[in-house]
Amino acid sequence: MRKMMEGVVVKLPSFPLLNPTIPPLSSSSLPLRLGFRRFSASLSAVKEGSVSLGHLSRPDFPILHQEVNGSKLVYLDNAATSQKPTAVLKALHNYYEAYNSNVHRGIHYLSAKATDEYELARKKVAAFINASDSSEIVFTRNATEAINLVAYSWGLLNLKPGDEIVLTIAEHHSAIVPWQIVAQKTGAVLKFVSLDENEIPNVVKLREMISTRTELVVVHHVSNVLGSVLPIEEIVHWVHEVGAKVLVDACQSVPHMVVDVQGLDADFLVASSHKMCGPTGIGFLFGKSNLLSAMPPFLGGGEMISDVFLDHSTYAEPPSRFEAGTPAIGEAIGLGAAIDYLSGIGMQKIHDYEMELANYLYDKLCSVPNIRIYGPKPAETVYRAALCSFNVENIHPTDLATFLDQQHGVAIRSGHHCAQPLHRYLGVNASARASLHFYNTEEDVDDFIRALNDTVSFFNSFK
Ligand SMILES: Cc1ncc(COP(=O)(O)O)c(C=O)c1O
Repeated sequence: MRKMMEGVVVKLPSFPLLNPTIPPLSSSSLPLRLGFRRFSASLSAVKEGSVSLGHLSRPDFPILHQEVNGSKLVYLDNAATSQKPTAVLKALHNYYEAYNSNVHRGIHYLSAKATDEYELARKKVAAFINASDSSEIVFTRNATEAINLVAYSWGLLNLKPGDEIVLTIAEHHSAIVPWQIVAQKTGAVLKFVSLDENEIPNVVKLREMISTRTELVVVHHVSNVLGSVLPIEEIVHWVHEVGAKVLVDACQSVPHMVVDVQGLDADFLVASSHKMCGPTGIGFLFGKSNLLSAMPPFLGGGEMISDVFLDHSTYAEPPSRFEAGTPAIGEAIGLGAAIDYLSGIGMQKIHDYEMELANYLYDKLCSVPNIRIYGPKPAETVYRAALCSFNVENIHPTDLATFLDQQHGVAIRSGHHCAQPLHRYLGVNASARASLHFYNTEEDVDDFIRALNDTVSFFNSFK
């Protein structure tokens, strides 16, 4: 497929066009606009002179400085995974080059060094989310595994027929499917709260749904589709009033803002390293120590035992109890380096800058003809995350994303973003999503909007 010149279409795209399955947009399908405060970050907090945090940090991310499909790469798929700064790449390289060894079991120098660094990474995670002790951090493969750990260990032990698990329809599949499986095994019941008129999960309904039958509430902190933010502290308070527990899916908040598990009083909280500038293959579960101590193992094997006999075993204390087998050592160390990097900038600074970008992205997207952006308007909420899921009337989001990539080097995501129930509720089976991180700039957004307008014109020229 050749490039388009001066807006003139020279050749049809080489990819098949998908049937538009998107309902036409009407003003009645748009969310009601209610008067929340529009948050505006202090520019001085996020800019050094006239240079934005995005411009300042971009040199740290080698991958961003390349061309794809003949265009400058504009990476706007950060909700799926973030890019890694040189400091993280170096930490991984250094581990494998200088002290690769297995942890906990060896007494030799390399093993001791690897163990120290691995445990230091755990301390860094604990400090980053303000856990009271590093033993409250369990390393897992990713957030999905962390949720499964809670489901299979805490859930199978504590849930019985008729117990209720309350979730929102906006949860990621990772936070729904494990609980469906556990509910089938235990007879517990899943209850879902839908969205309010601002396309935010309805917290009023959520509160009403919490009762003495509730055993667990599973909620995201920031939605990976709507960009909305839930008031976790309040939700936790309501849930604790009935003696139930809260699991917070913080995959989209921990990489972008200050998250304080003690302040939130969350019982469990999960996140993935790869979304927070760290390597893939590592994530973590935070669990309050009294809860983790009372939980049985999730997986059996080496590292998680105290003593093994032929007919039974006794188990190590948390977090080892939940880390069977050789862990992702280099990846944990890489995550520690990512945390150092993020902390070096400051999560508040990242958050403030991303808020500016979030508003900028939203405002610019609104100018695209026949666009429908999902989730709350930035003006309606204290904070809308720097991501937008959207559809353009009669153009399939995968066609949009493919054209943006092939013609303009712009990387966005299309599909259901692992949130099929939410998409069904919104009346579509897919959406396009542009998601930003602190190394993005207003120029990235401008490039994206220019490319999107061009893409929309291209598809509309066939109608
Ligand atoms: C809100 C949310 N929860 C959970 C996950 C699952 O993360 P992972 O695939 O790293 O386990 C994601 C990833 O997209 C997410 O955005």
